[in-house]
Amino acid sequence: MITIAVANQKGGVGKTTTAINIATALAATGWKVLLVDLDPQGNASTGIGVASHERERSSYDLLIDQATVAECLMPTRIPGLDLVPATVDLSGAEVELVSVEDRTGKLRGALSQGGAGHDICLIDCPPSLGLLTLNALTAADTLLVPLQCEFFALEGLSQLLQTVERVQERFNADLGILGVVLTMFDRRNRLTDQVADDVRSCLHDLVFEAVIPRNVRLSEAPSHGLPALIYDHACPGSQAYMKLARELIGRLPERRKAA
Ligand SMILES: Nc1ncnc2c1ncn2[C@@H]1O[C@H](COP(=O)(O)OP(=O)(O)O)[C@@H](O)[C@H]1O
Ligand SMILES: [Mg+2]
Repeated sequence: MITIAVANQKGGVGKTTTAINIATALAATGWKVLLVDLDPQGNASTGIGVASHERERSSYDLLIDQATVAECLMPTRIPGLDLVPATVDLSGAEVELVSVEDRTGKLRGALSQGGAGHDICLIDCPPSLGLLTLNALTAADTLLVPLQCEFFALEGLSQLLQTVERVQERFNADLGILGVVLTMFDRRNRLTDQVADDVRSCLHDLVFEAVIPRNVRLSEAPSHGLPALIYDHACPGSQAYMKLARELIGRLPERRKAA
């Protein structure tokens, strides 16, 4: 299984929207996909149609009780896509883990037991660089960074990349960076355009060609408990996520693509 962390310590940049729709696109290509909701707000769980009262075991159990993935996952209404939901317990996990040995390696431990036959795992991270995100980066093979085209975008990114270096040095030498995806792009807004240009001239090929436009259909979909890709397959946002998924598959490490 290849594991992708979807991370950016800023909130509202499109992490959850990206995680849900990429997970759906990959499931549609026939892969067995696991989506792990690692944000105490549980937006990925809600957005994929699993209401809070339906959640039993959760990503909290993976971290604290070291329950197995097989024990915690729930099928979703999307064929081939399973979810490990988040519950409010998770908001206490950062504190509970502080005194635990190998506290950044808990998620990796749980995921490495495998047993559920998934080809790929996406982890939707919370908007911080705390222990939850560190667990995701330690468990991941590679990192996908949604970046909103706005003024301080690059500043936040350098902080994230410093954290990645720290994780590579201390916990996960093999952590790669899959790429940066520009989100909520608005071609009518000059600043957006300018930021996109700056990001590309700074990060070159690290930036995916696919750009996710600002699209109201993407923001409506979660209230219906559906990925945008299913809620409105033809809308520009869904089409952009399909393009991103194709590009992303092309960037996965070879040994994983073969599987
Ligand atoms: N491309 C987009 N166009 C319009 N709205 C979007 C887009 N991407 C995300 N949103 C909306 O913006 C809000 C924040 O997105 P979300 O994916 O939850 O970000 P994060 O997980 O980084 O906090 C949500 O209400 C979401 O529906
Ligand atoms: Mg989110």
